[in-house]
Amino acid sequence: MVALPADQPDRPRAATERLGPGDLDRAVELLRSGATVAIPTETVYGLAADASNAAAVGRIFEAKGRPTDHPLIVHIAGADDLESWSHTLDPRARALADAHWPGPLTLVVPRSERVAVATVGGRSSVGIRVPDHELTLELLRRFGGGLAAPSANRFGHVSPTTADHVLADLDGRIDAVVDGGPCTVGVESTIIELVGGPPTLLRPGGLSVADIEATLGEVVLDGRTTESRAAGMLASHYAPKASVRIVDTSDAIGEARVLAPNTIVIGPEALGVPPQRHIQLASDAASFARHLYRALRDADAAGAAEIVIVPPTTGALVDAVLDRLAKAAAPRP
Ligand code: TXA
Ligand code: MG
Repeated sequence: MVALPADQPDRPRAATERLGPGDLDRAVELLRSGATVAIPTETVYGLAADASNAAAVGRIFEAKGRPTDHPLIVHIAGADDLESWSHTLDPRARALADAHWPGPLTLVVPRSERVAVATVGGRSSVGIRVPDHELTLELLRRFGGGLAAPSANRFGHVSPTTADHVLADLDGRIDAVVDGGPCTVGVESTIIELVGGPPTLLRPGGLSVADIEATLGEVVLDGRTTESRAAGMLASHYAPKASVRIVDTSDAIGEARVLAPNTIVIGPEALGVPPQRHIQLASDAASFARHLYRALRDADAAGAAEIVIVPPTTGALVDAVLDRLAKAAAPRP
């Protein structure tokens, strides 16, 4: 059993401030004071706090209800800062940073003492990335440090791709949210571990493994099955309230006639599903990824008891989408 941080429903909390592009100085002031501020990125919204401040980072775990041994990703303003967060850097990490940052790639590398121990749950490594979102890059430059940020949802729930999604999960539990519009990638970053051994994939995401292998000129190992590596990677995750079932196109068309009234289908057009029970997503994986989390939240909001999903079959982000769908459909704890 992992320990969950104590939930304190009775603790008085101020309302969550909603900030816009003109309020970055307020966001910096809050972050310097040790507060939690949700920030937009190209993948999903993150719940940020000062990565060098253990007390601030503790507020992230508390707001999310996340076990404190699940390490957080540190967001930095540019690839040039990488060596100050990791002293013993593999040259391959430098090559990946130069080629793909800003972008949806997290590098797990040996950490420097600049990272608060609480940020990484006591590990000797740290996940680092430069997010590809102008507003957040400007915030990081003004802040001048690193921002620890997991996805800005309650633990185990669907990640947020708009400021409204963040507030739906965390209003009153966090100090502020910076509204930077909808996320353009829609699924989390790809995580690659480089700690001495071969480059290892810990989570597929917004950057394809093929692109990473092309930069490295070598094969990336799939580390998802090795238990020791799977830090906080649980079978059930990204889960809406409704149960989730994955089917292929012909099954969906066959079932459309017999669907229970409280079932909602997420998938391509022309499935023969009544429009009020069908959330249409393109069959290209990148477009599917961009709208997937919104679709899951919309299905919950429509009162679905079951969500039937027809996954995309083509495109660079197929692996990332299938990974998230498998976790959304996994048995709940
Ligand atoms: O796109 C993203 O990566 C988003 C945005 C906000 O940047 N962040 C995100 O964070 O998805 P989170 O905390 O929801 O997922 C990060 C995953 C976790 O499963 C965590 O266990 C793993 O990355 N992770 C972070 N640091 C690690 C480390 N040092 N070693 C192994 N796994 C690590
Ligand atoms: Mg998450």
